Amino acid sequence: MTISSKKIIIAIDGFSGCGKSTLAKDLSAALHYTHIDTGALYRAITLHCIQHNINVADIHSVMAATTSADIKLKVEGHTTKTILNGEDVTDRIKNPDVAAKVSEVAKISSVRAHLKALQQSFGEQKGIVMDGRDIGTVIFPQAELKLFIIADIEERSRRRLLEMEEKGVSYTIEEVKANLLKRDHIDSSREVAPLKRADDAIIIDTTYLSRQDQLEKALSLVKEVKN
Ligand code: DC
Repeated sequence: MTISSKKIIIAIDGFSGCGKSTLAKDLSAALHYTHIDTGALYRAITLHCIQHNINVADIHSVMAATTSADIKLKVEGHTTKTILNGEDVTDRIKNPDVAAKVSEVAKISSVRAHLKALQQSFGEQKGIVMDGRDIGTVIFPQAELKLFIIADIEERSRRRLLEMEEKGVSYTIEEVKANLLKRDHIDSSREVAPLKRADDAIIIDTTYLSRQDQLEKALSLVKEVKN
């Protein structure tokens, strides 16, 4: 497939475990773009709170932790590493202790405001694929292509469980499903920047699509936007 060299911003939003990050990684590799996983920023702040025994329900302490934490995203080829206070925490922030608390952190408006400017600074160069919950609605409402990814809850739970098993963490499918449903609820019902589809976002249901099919579908949409 030939795609013009004009660089654009691709915003990918959706619920947890629908395959956003996988698609964002594959798209950025295919287009030679930079992938920014914005969930990693919220997860890094959550890990910082865990490491400093900060209760995530204590909004003021979490905000103080947000401004004191040194969070950097380091682009290495098509992958992006998350660095917290000088330490590579890319794998660590995927652990269940962080997953269990991150939605509480992500609903704090001052934390979101702090991270908004950082996320927008990545878009200055264009040529990015950014995935999260409010990218098409709040961070880059002007993105040239917005995708909203959905998938059946059973399939999402199965994928998340596999991911955890690969890391040697043992959980039951019910536990994984309960965590996903809890996060869906908090993410879509919070007051600030709740997860919702932008009016002009294109829905991709990944339930029955292979990884390659998802990529091809997204690449054909990129081609339409660029031509
Ligand atoms: O995509 P993820 O599972 O790594 O996201 C972790 C949490 O962060 C999730 O509960 C929702 C929140 N999040 C958010 O509110 N806004 C974003 N742009 C990205 C993630």
